[in-house]
Amino acid sequence: MARFSFLFTVCGFAAVCTSLLIADHNTPEALEARVVAVGTLNISDTSIAAAEPQGPVDGESVYNASCLACHAAGVAGAPVLGDSTVWAERIAQGMEVLVEHAIQGFTGSTGVMPAKGGNPSLSDEAVTVAVQFMVDQSR
Ligand code: HEC
Repeated sequence: MARFSFLFTVCGFAAVCTSLLIADHNTPEALEARVVAVGTLNISDTSIAAAEPQGPVDGESVYNASCLACHAAGVAGAPVLGDSTVWAERIAQGMEVLVEHAIQGFTGSTGVMPAKGGNPSLSDEAVTVAVQFMVDQSR
């Protein structure tokens, strides 16, 4: 009989220990540990993404992010995207001139085109594909 109650005590104790272990997952410390782990993971994800070489840049995305503000409605004298009349003369200058004006900035007869649309973080390549997109949409 003493042996049985001893076994019962051990088993009962084990059950309590198990439930304590399970309950332990929800203590603030355990939650914090998991949050810290997730935070660490995010930081390393970001550095991996930053280290990756940039894929091909999409002209339409660059346009939407950095050029649309002026070129969608013709703000400040900007030639409106899709208006083939105002673009014809500009396109006639050739891509090289258009790209140079877009990268370096340009003051013409209708207003001021800021260098890279005022976004110096854009690569020359990003501006080039944005110009190509605008020209394609405005022929
Ligand atoms: C702050 C307003 C503004 C933003 C933003 C802007 N542009 Fe312009 N852009 C202009 C204006 C104004 C002109 C017309 C200048 C003139 O001919 O007098 C122009 C002209 C141009 C031209 C024609 C240049 C030429 O030689 O006729 C191109 C190409 C161009 N922009 C590309 C871009 C690209 C690409 C972006 C985004 C990266 C951009 N622009 C963002 C205002 C802007």
